[in-house]
Amino acid sequence: MRARMSQSKNFLIIFCVLALAPLGLCAKAGYGGYLYPQFYDHSCPKAQEIVKSVVAKAVAKDPRMGASLLRLHFHDCFVKGCDASLLLDSSGTIISEKRSVPNTNSARGFEVLDEIKFALEKECPQTVSCADLLALAARDSTVLTGGPSWVVPLGRRDSTGASLSGSNNNIPAPNNTFQTILTKFKLKGLDIVDLVALSGSHTIGNARCTTFRQRLYNQTGNGQPDFTLDQSYAAQLRTRCPRSGGDQNLFFLDFVSPIKFDNSYFKNLLAKKGLLSSDEVLVTQSQATLQLVKQYAGNQELFFEQFAKSMVKMGNITPLTGSKGQIRKRCRQVNK
Ligand code: HEM
Ligand SMILES: *[C@@H]1O[C@H](CO)[C@@H](O)[C@H](O)[C@H]1NC(C)=O
Ligand SMILES: *[C@@H]1O[C@H](CO)[C@@H](O)[C@H](O)[C@H]1NC(C)=O
Repeated sequence: MRARMSQSKNFLIIFCVLALAPLGLCAKAGYGGYLYPQFYDHSCPKAQEIVKSVVAKAVAKDPRMGASLLRLHFHDCFVKGCDASLLLDSSGTIISEKRSVPNTNSARGFEVLDEIKFALEKECPQTVSCADLLALAARDSTVLTGGPSWVVPLGRRDSTGASLSGSNNNIPAPNNTFQTILTKFKLKGLDIVDLVALSGSHTIGNARCTTFRQRLYNQTGNGQPDFTLDQSYAAQLRTRCPRSGGDQNLFFLDFVSPIKFDNSYFKNLLAKKGLLSSDEVLVTQSQATLQLVKQYAGNQELFFEQFAKSMVKMGNITPLTGSKGQIRKRCRQVNK
């Protein structure tokens, strides 16, 4: 039995290298570990169906949830790799990443992952990792809101720790300079094309007043607003994002079609109506990113194709594989 197990595992790895790798479906993940889409085909054949049905229910109930789940995968992958470190609550020596600046009062959707995990534990106990749930939920959320689909390489395992400092330092801030943002992406193996395509996620979801107020009142410290923001749009934003107070007031990242995954985010940027400074710098600070923004604004298919590719690439950031990490029974805590 053991021999057969390891034989079939070897077969899958060989299959992965010979047949899937050229298609980009199979990623060499870190040091000798591999992710591949068929990972649960035998051990939990219904896994993908279960994830999709819970995500669909959650998005039907709260249309913003698609955006929130998509963002969780990003915030997971940029910290210690795609290992569900984000999902751990504080306990013992673990300080939760949920307490970091980018996540506090902001990251949401954790109870949806609890529900998915609960359903999966019933179907196939301790088989599907929380890190893979995040990757699948991000894909399903994109599709459910009108965006592209892609095949998700699987086989990530879950971390036994979290990194609050990693969460604070690795995830770009909305007022970071273009160079800082690009550097943070490059440190994760992502390039300028990935940066522009993945920023297209801001075609759905919300941001709080506190994440862009600086642009409305005092962008550079000289008491002036950010003039790369359309000034009548800025005036409109100021009515619900006052100089002080209203920190948690919510605004659509894409005011044109806030719950539809499309390319209007890029059209907004060209009209100086990107909400965050980190959005608008893509057209003001680099010719290379400006050209990409123009292409995606003019051709939604091109954006969708690149978005799918870049999501797979982001999902391959240093996962735990093989015997590293564990398969958590509950996403919020390491196994006892
Ligand atoms: C390029 C650097 C990025 C910066 C500086 C950034 C920053 C932000 C900020 C400040 C918010 C609003 C949070 C709040 O008000 O609480 C936000 C929301 C969001 N971000 Fe990003 N983000 C970036 C890249 C990404 C990427 C790569 C993805 C996904 C692949 C993503 C997906 C989202 C989504 C979907 C939302 C809306 C979430 C919701 O409504 O719950 N972002 N982002
Ligand atoms: C960016 O925003 C943070 C948090 O509001 C603030 O402390 C920091 O000074 C800002 N950085 C710049 C360069 O404006
Ligand atoms: C703008 O910010 C600078 C530096 O943070 C501060 O010294 C100044 O008082 C602010 N000006 C206004 C009008 O808020």
